[in-house]
Amino acid sequence: MDAWNGTLANLLAVIRLRGRRETGNFTAAVLGYRYLNEFNYEDGRLFHDQHGRLFLYLSLPFGKYGGARASVNTVFRVMITCRRTPGPNKCDPRLGPPRLLRYDHSLAWDKNWVPWNGTSLMSYSHYGPFGPHSVFNWSTYRDPMPHARFYSFANETFFSTFSRTFGRLLQLSGGTPAILEPGGKSYIAVGHLRVHPGCLHPESIPGLDKVVGKDVRLNCAHLLRLDAHLKGAIPFQTFMFRGPSGNLSKHYHVDYGLFLYRFRAGPPYTITHLSHGFLPPSEGHFGIVFPSGLERLGRRGDYAISYGDADQVARILLLSPADVDMLMVPLSVMEKRLAGLSVCTLPFAEGVPLALRLQSGQGR
Ligand SMILES: *[C@@H]1O[C@H](CO)[C@@H](O)[C@H](O)[C@H]1NC(C)=O
Ligand SMILES: *[C@@H]1O[C@H](CO)[C@@H](O)[C@H](O)[C@H]1NC(C)=O
Ligand SMILES: *[C@@H]1O[C@H](CO)[C@@H](O)[C@H](O)[C@H]1NC(C)=O
Ligand SMILES: *[C@@H]1O[C@H](CO)[C@@H](O)[C@H](O)[C@H]1NC(C)=O
Ligand SMILES: *[C@@H]1O[C@H](CO)[C@@H](O)[C@H](O)[C@H]1NC(C)=O
Ligand SMILES: *[C@@H]1O[C@H](CO)[C@@H](O)[C@H](O)[C@H]1NC(C)=O
Repeated sequence: MDAWNGTLANLLAVIRLRGRRETGNFTAAVLGYRYLNEFNYEDGRLFHDQHGRLFLYLSLPFGKYGGARASVNTVFRVMITCRRTPGPNKCDPRLGPPRLLRYDHSLAWDKNWVPWNGTSLMSYSHYGPFGPHSVFNWSTYRDPMPHARFYSFANETFFSTFSRTFGRLLQLSGGTPAILEPGGKSYIAVGHLRVHPGCLHPESIPGLDKVVGKDVRLNCAHLLRLDAHLKGAIPFQTFMFRGPSGNLSKHYHVDYGLFLYRFRAGPPYTITHLSHGFLPPSEGHFGIVFPSGLERLGRRGDYAISYGDADQVARILLLSPADVDMLMVPLSVMEKRLAGLSVCTLPFAEGVPLALRLQSGQGR
């Protein structure tokens, strides 16, 4: 959804990805697309159900930003018809009717639930600490079973330690669907974190740079030491940020990052690992990188994380399974050093831009 600098419409596209991470020669071809204009379909997540059918999870928002706003969680079947042509195949993606995902205790802004690819299970996102890991079983996405309580619930001490430590300085939530790891014993997914701008950018709070210096910081440890009331809320205020080029650019009022996590594939689906936050390449660093898709590509099983950059560009980040393992930290270890939970750029990451040339119906 490009609401800020585009057509004010969402786009459902069929894209063929080719190439490998090692060679850096990675191409994306658009085989077909459709604009979705009737509603605001922002923040979609694509996944397969237990029968291999493709679905789109959406939190449909109602109301205006800054006013009364709520969202309703839904799934739509996605149907794709393709036909052979002398050039690349031409495909047409369509959405079926919405199905309501009903949870009686939903909050007005409930979003970012996490479908588990290949199942009828989905994690609920507790904003902030992310856990206790709470799971729905919708039974079927054709006729999802309404829920008054969770099907499964795994509470680790990590989550209460997290809330106590950070308040609202640092918040974890869902991002991409979860996919089964090789061996079938665990799922892996990419979540998003929201960080108070004073954690990473001293210039975002007048006077803060006098206390902690002007340099970009890695985590919130200095704010935790300085002032407990900052844990309350994130000010809704963009600020100017001096990037590595020395130029000033505008920064969103909060920093978004990505993190990886892993949970057991059997009940009660305990979350066992979490990574520090990481940032894929993002020119200008506006502050919003948002993960929405997770797939595995090629013989080595590289992870392909699709993400939105500054709500303007669709990109894909490729990580090898070894990189992913290296980033994972056992939850109990992270809990012991929680104030040091950091956000870093990835030295080995390549963000491959999906330059969608829509007029010609294909792109590189
Ligand atoms: C907004 O879009 C226009 C063209 O559509 C482009 O020239 C401009 O750089 C874009 N602005 C940002 C902030 O991306
Ligand atoms: C990259 O891949 C494309 C298509 O797979 C191929 O045509 C092109 O020659 C490759 N380029 C390089 C530099 O290897
Ligand atoms: C997602 O689930 C489908 C089965 O519904 C399976 O074919 C596919 O391989 C799964 N994708 C990943 C990345 O595990
Ligand atoms: C989810 O519910 C369906 C239908 O009731 C059932 O067949 C399936 O075993 C359940 N899944 C799990 C993991 O319990
Ligand atoms: C989870 O466990 C903690 C203690 O570790 C407890 O304080 C908290 O209330 C529990 N949360 C829920 C939702 O049961
Ligand atoms: C920085 O700003 C100067 C002057 O506006 C401009 O010429 C230069 O291209 C900018 N550099 C970058 C990396 O944006």
